[in-house]
Amino acid sequence: MTDEAERFWEERYQERDRVWSGKANPVLVDVAGSLPAGAALDLGCGEGGDAVWLAGLGWQVTAVDVSATALSRAAAAAEAAGLEARIDFQRHDLAHSFPSGVFDLVSAQFLQSPVEFPRDRVLQAAARAVASGGLLLIVEHGAFPPWSRHPEPHPRFPTPEETLAVLDLSPGQWRTERLGSPKREATGPDGQRGTLIDNVVAVRRLT
Ligand SMILES: C[S@@+](CC[C@H](N)C(=O)[O-])C[C@H]1O[C@@H](n2cnc3c(N)ncnc32)[C@H](O)[C@@H]1O
Repeated sequence: MTDEAERFWEERYQERDRVWSGKANPVLVDVAGSLPAGAALDLGCGEGGDAVWLAGLGWQVTAVDVSATALSRAAAAAEAAGLEARIDFQRHDLAHSFPSGVFDLVSAQFLQSPVEFPRDRVLQAAARAVASGGLLLIVEHGAFPPWSRHPEPHPRFPTPEETLAVLDLSPGQWRTERLGSPKREATGPDGQRGTLIDNVVAVRRLT
């Protein structure tokens, strides 16, 4: 049986030969660029821009998406960069299954979906997958990109503070390293310029 999430995202990816830029997300670059390489988990990896960038820095990456089309494009990008040995691509609908293991970096970049998605439960599982000393980085839209198709009136996005609360982290075991909504200038899929707001949560597991 094909679930709604798989159907939606497969259709989305099949509409275009490429949906995303292929570049790593700027907040990830800013946060992870100076970290020592280790094991990383990329949740909702899409076409692999982040996974390939991390692998290029020496990380061993597990990259997960619900869309087989996205994963095959990501695998092709990894191969083109000669980094396929550093990335384990896994298809999961995170509503139903989650990759095993613990990771020095767990990254969820725009893991947002207009179809039914148990966001809180998945983000809590993401926190459990962080190794001692490791970092969980969640970046989400703080507002719809000006060029995106979205419903009107559109739902309110959770603030970084609300996302942190959802994680329900044990006090004393985690340190908050980033919590905020920086703005940045970006280019849309058809070359449009616009201002984006990123909601950022970065928490480090201390024990
Ligand atoms: C907005 S895109 C972001 C892609 C990528 N992280 C990026 O920043 O370019 C959201 C991604 O999450 C994936 N996704 C959505 N729902 C999912 C689910 N239930 N399980 C796994 N992946 C899912 C989609 O297929 C899509 O690739």
